[in-house]
Order: sequence, then structure tokens, then C-alpha cells
Amino acid sequence: MIDLDRIRSEALADIAAADLEGLETTRVALLGKKGAITALMRSLGDMGPEERRNAGLALNALKDVISTALDQRKARLDAERLDQRLARERVDVTQPARPDRVGRIHPISQTIDEVVAIFGQMGFAVAEGPDIEDDFHNFTALNFPPGHPARLMHDTFFLPEKSDGSRFLLRTHTSPVQVRTMRKQAPPIRVIIPGRTYRCDSDMTHTPMFHQVEGLVIDKTTTMGHLKGCLIEFVKTYFEVDEVPVRFRPSFFPFTEPSAEVDIGCSRAGGELKIGAGADWLEILGCGMVHPNVLRNCGIDPDEYQGFAFGMGIERIAMLKYGIPDLRTFFESDLRWLHHYGFVPLDVPTLSGGLAR
Ligand code: PHE
Repeated sequence: MIDLDRIRSEALADIAAADLEGLETTRVALLGKKGAITALMRSLGDMGPEERRNAGLALNALKDVISTALDQRKARLDAERLDQRLARERVDVTQPARPDRVGRIHPISQTIDEVVAIFGQMGFAVAEGPDIEDDFHNFTALNFPPGHPARLMHDTFFLPEKSDGSRFLLRTHTSPVQVRTMRKQAPPIRVIIPGRTYRCDSDMTHTPMFHQVEGLVIDKTTTMGHLKGCLIEFVKTYFEVDEVPVRFRPSFFPFTEPSAEVDIGCSRAGGELKIGAGADWLEILGCGMVHPNVLRNCGIDPDEYQGFAFGMGIERIAMLKYGIPDLRTFFESDLRWLHHYGFVPLDVPTLSGGLAR
């Protein structure tokens, strides 16, 4: 007679000692097709009826005990493994964030975010366009006829000539996005356009790549008064001063008429530049009423619609606000500079929360 008690206690001891991988081997060795219990079950066929009945009952009971023990052990080992994993991967969500480890926001990005926040509050949407442009969008549509001398002032980077003689170029200003927006979207239009611009110029105060932000408003009754109000509001909010003298000086751009350059008041007393009332003026942007020819080139009827546009250099207004003395340092990728002038990533500029901290 087979010693079922021995089989049972050995099996239970094996199960109790097994780890997750070993447990499967143990299961196969006992209950698998060629397992010990399975073999015993098979041997029932050779027994007489009485003997088979008793042995069958005993074997089935043993089989139940063993499968239950296997299931319980498996459940326990699974739970232990999960606990270990949870302990290993635990994250303390109550810990304060450590933005210091994430690096710094570049002053250019910060300034763009601030400008977008200010104009966003006034109802402007952000528009974008490609850095590589064609002559039509960068010049012709903006009322620079072919051969116009103002084209030469743009120090344009051209790409190699194509078979039809035309050349792509790197946009020299963000104004081509005015054209793209007007050709795509029916008025009223109110957009702000930040982006990279390129001119073949490099010295103390010029880098071949720089950034501009363009504004465009087109509606039926938009006037120069709106342009002035909008820019004065911007200057006060951006420089975070209550009163800034703002001066509109007549100027020329082919795509605006009349055109103006905007100066803001500042003082340089004691060698320190301060934005606000003072004896000096600083030029910060170009603007004007969109030229009727530009509206026409973009499929907008100048007898029905009019509007204003402005464009300014991001580096310039960043330098003025944050006291960054040298333009070229913006693009030197010096981590010490970035750490000094950069911004903490989680301090996203908003008008309610503060532009820059
Ligand atoms: N595109 C002009 C420049 O780069 C700036 C500008 C934009 C002027 C819009 C008037 C209106 O100098």
C-alpha cells in the first residue's frame, strides 16, 4: 500500500519552501501530466472495485489538499512580490518639486511667454509660420516690390537657386506670418506671432539669428488710437511700471502707412538703466497701420477693413527688462550664464500670478 501520508507531508513541505518559479516546477511534478499524483490516479484502473473506491476517495482528497496548498502559496508569493515592487517604486507625492534639478528656462523663452501672456489677456491668439520662406511672403506681399531698396536693408540669407531661378530664404522678420494669417483667416484678426528671424549681420549688437514678436489686428474700425493704447498697455505691463512715457516717432516700413517707431522713457542716471520717467529715450519697436496694398495682396478689401501691425525684438526687450548687457551671450550656451539669467521652470508667467519672479 502506498504511503499517502508521506506523499502528502513531503508535497506540502515542498510547496511551503518553494519560491514563485519553483512553485510551478513543484506543481508540474505533482499534478502535471507526468506528475506523481496523476500517476497514482492512473493506477486506480488496475485495482479491484472495493480497493479502487477507497483509494479513489483518499487520492481525490489528497489532490484537493495539494491544489489548495499550491493556490494559497501562489497567492501569497504574488502578494509578496507586489509589495516588494511597490516598496521599491514608491514615490513620495508630498515632497516639494525640485525644479533646480530640471535646469532653467532661457530668458528668450521666458520673454516670449510673458509677451504671449500679456497679449493673450487682451484677446490675441498665437500664430506661427515657417523659418524658411519664399520671396512672396517675406517681401512682395508686404509691398516690397522687386528691386525695392528696402529689400537690401534686410541682409537676407538666401538658399541656393532653384531651376525656375527663384530662391527660398530665411525669413528676415516675423511679418511674413501676417501675410500667411490674413490669407488663411477672414477678419476680424487679432494675432501675436513670436519666432526666429535671420539676417546676415554679426557684431556687438547683432546676431545672425534673433527673435521677434509680431502683432496684427484687422477689423472694420481699428485705428491708430487702438494701436497706441494697446502698445502703451503692453509696455506698462511688461516692464511692470505704472507710468512709462511712450513716444511714437514717424518712420517708414513698406508694409505700413503711416509707420512709427516707438520709444520708451528711461533714465541712465548713475550709469544704471531704469525704464520709466527720465531724461532719455529707448527705441523698442516698429509699427503702423497695415498698408492697403498688403491687405489687397492678402485678399482683404481695404475699403472695408483696416488694422495695425507691430514688431519688436525679443532679445532687446529681454536685455532691457533683465539687465542682460551683451546680446551675444544669449546664444553661447554657457550654463553658468543660464543659471544666472534663467528662470525656474515651474514659475510660468501669468498676469494674475506675476510675470517673472
Ligand atoms: N518687420 C519690421 C522689422 O523687422 C517690424 C515691423 C512689424 C514694423 C510690423 C511695422 C509693423 O523691422
